[in-house]
Amino acid sequence: MTNGSKSIGILTAGGDCQGLNAAIRGVAKTAINQYGMQVIGFLDGFRGLAENRYERLDGEKLSGILTLGGTILGTSRDKPHKIAIGDKFIDAISQAEENYHKLHLDALVCIGGGGTQKNALRLLKKTDMNIITLPKTIDNDVWGTDLCFGYDTAVEIATEAIDRLHSTASSHHRVMVVEIMGHNTGWLTAASGLAGGADVVVIPEIPYDIEVIKNALIERNRKGKRFSIVAVAEGARPKDENEIPNDFEDSTAVHLTHRLAELTGLETRLTSLGHVMRGGSPTAADRILATKLGTKAAQLIAEGQSGVMVAERAGYAVPVPLEEIAGNRRIIEDDHPLLESLRNLGICLGV
Ligand code: F6P
Repeated sequence: MTNGSKSIGILTAGGDCQGLNAAIRGVAKTAINQYGMQVIGFLDGFRGLAENRYERLDGEKLSGILTLGGTILGTSRDKPHKIAIGDKFIDAISQAEENYHKLHLDALVCIGGGGTQKNALRLLKKTDMNIITLPKTIDNDVWGTDLCFGYDTAVEIATEAIDRLHSTASSHHRVMVVEIMGHNTGWLTAASGLAGGADVVVIPEIPYDIEVIKNALIERNRKGKRFSIVAVAEGARPKDENEIPNDFEDSTAVHLTHRLAELTGLETRLTSLGHVMRGGSPTAADRILATKLGTKAAQLIAEGQSGVMVAERAGYAVPVPLEEIAGNRRIIEDDHPLLESLRNLGICLGV
């Protein structure tokens, strides 16, 4: 099937992750090869759309990118209604709309996490642009999809880090605290904690009690297990307000590391995985997911759909209205199988 006439734009916005290039390739190759469309990529997220900075995506540009980390288009955290120019912010929505029409686009594909879904909905409501989105983020917290691409690769990286921390923890008889990305949700920490065999898993969804963690570590030590791994999500928070990090400790993980050393008397070290988790080549699972959602997006555009995010649901790529997605966040519910398994194994969740 070809209609030969459509032109589309693609942009990647928000924090990068693995699988973005696979998604760009999936959208663009399907659009070009199956439907005879013209494809351009805006540079640096919504900023490139507002500033009309783009490049044509053709066979050559799309070749060899499936396995690459990052995004060939660049990204930024700019919001279309709040683009930073010097020390000021400007609303660039009408500029974005003007550029879209100047380029005779029929649709725009926005690839991003929760913030991007909100920005895409804003453009959809305030302009006459046709918009389709894809869910990406290592945090895996976009509402309405079973999975986001980037997540699987980041879980692999964090799991490998926990595996590696085991041997040094064991040699030195230390408590190793490992800080894992996820500022609002604990998907990465719970999954890699389970896969890597952490002894304590602390996530934002379950505010922790420091006494419970202290007791778990002392109890392990008493049983002759002379090391422990504590996996902490970046956004984890204590139950007790007195345990909130002070001005010198800029994260919960730093505070927790100090406090656990103090309370248990055990030698304790902190490893922060940070942006390492977002780098490098995507796993096969992320390449497949990004390609599946990307190719479906092009198909939906050819069918004339707009205002939807292409979600992964029970193995299928399905369109879900952006209205249902934007503004919501997918947290780990208390009865989620990941938490059930952690509890069944006797892993301390800090409560
Ligand atoms: O949203 C994904 C994420 O990786 C979070 O887990 C983390 O808190 C944040 O991005 C870091 O973002 P930045 O790239 O702005 O440092």
